[in-house]
Amino acid sequence: MTTAPLELFTLQEGHGVPLLLLHGFPLDHRMWSDVVAHLPSGTTVLAVDLPGAGASPLGGEPASLEASADAVATTVRAAGVHRAVVAGLSMGGYVALALAERHPELVTGLGLVDTKSTADTDEARANRLRIAARVDSDQTVDAVLGMPGVLLGETSKHERGGLTARLEEWIRVQRPGGVAWSQRAMAARPDRTAVLTGFTGPVAVVVGEEDALTPPAEAEHMAAAAGTVVVQVPGSGHMSAIEAPADVAAALADLHDRVRAA
Ligand code: MLT
Repeated sequence: MTTAPLELFTLQEGHGVPLLLLHGFPLDHRMWSDVVAHLPSGTTVLAVDLPGAGASPLGGEPASLEASADAVATTVRAAGVHRAVVAGLSMGGYVALALAERHPELVTGLGLVDTKSTADTDEARANRLRIAARVDSDQTVDAVLGMPGVLLGETSKHERGGLTARLEEWIRVQRPGGVAWSQRAMAARPDRTAVLTGFTGPVAVVVGEEDALTPPAEAEHMAAAAGTVVVQVPGSGHMSAIEAPADVAAALADLHDRVRAA
C-alpha cells in the first residue's frame, strides 16, 4: 500500500538545509506559527500536516507512526527536499524518531520537543484505544476537546488566558477519523530510545518544566541516549511551542547552527 502525500507548508522562505516541523496531537501545522516568528529570517522553515490532521488525507494504511514517517519522507522528497533538520513536538517527536530510524539519510539533525522515546504503558495504550473507539462511534472530536487542560502548564493556565481557547479552536476543526487513527498509531509505537543512541547528527531535547504528559525525566532519558543535555523551558507545560515560543525557537536555531557547523 502506498503512503498518501501530505500537505506541505513553507512557513518561511530561506536558504540552506530546511528546518522541518512536525506537530503534536490533536493539532496541525498551525501550532508552530509563534515559533517561526522567533526563528532567524534566513532559515527555510517547512511543516506538514501529519496523516488525517489539518489538511492532510488519511491513506488506506493501518494506523502506525511508521506510515506517518513514510508519508513525511515521500512528501518532502517529492518537493525536492532530501536533507532536513527535523523537529517534532510530542506526537511529532514520535514521528521524527520513526523518520530517523526509517529514512536516516533525510534527517541531518533532530529536535525533540515535549516528547519521549519510550513506548506507552499498558494503561496509556488502553486509554488511547478507548478514546479512538469513542471518537469513531461519536463521529466527533468531543473526546479530546478537554485536552488543553492537560496540555498546558499551570503557569499558562493562570497567566496566558487565551491559550486554552486557541487550542480548543484548533482541536475542534480536526476530523474524527484522523484523531482516531493518530491515537491508534501512537498506541502501537515501540520504544525508539536506540534510534537516539545510534543517531550521529546533532540533537536538541527541549521540555517544558511543567510538562505533565512527557515530563522532564523522559527528556533526561532521551538526552542521555543522545549524549546531549536537556533544554528546560521555565513556566511551560507540554505545549512549549505555544507557551514559550521564543525559548523553543532559540533551541531550534541553535540546533540548526550546529547542523550547519558539522
Ligand atoms: C501530543 O501532544 O502530541 C500528545 O499529547 C502525544 C501523546 O498523546 O502522547
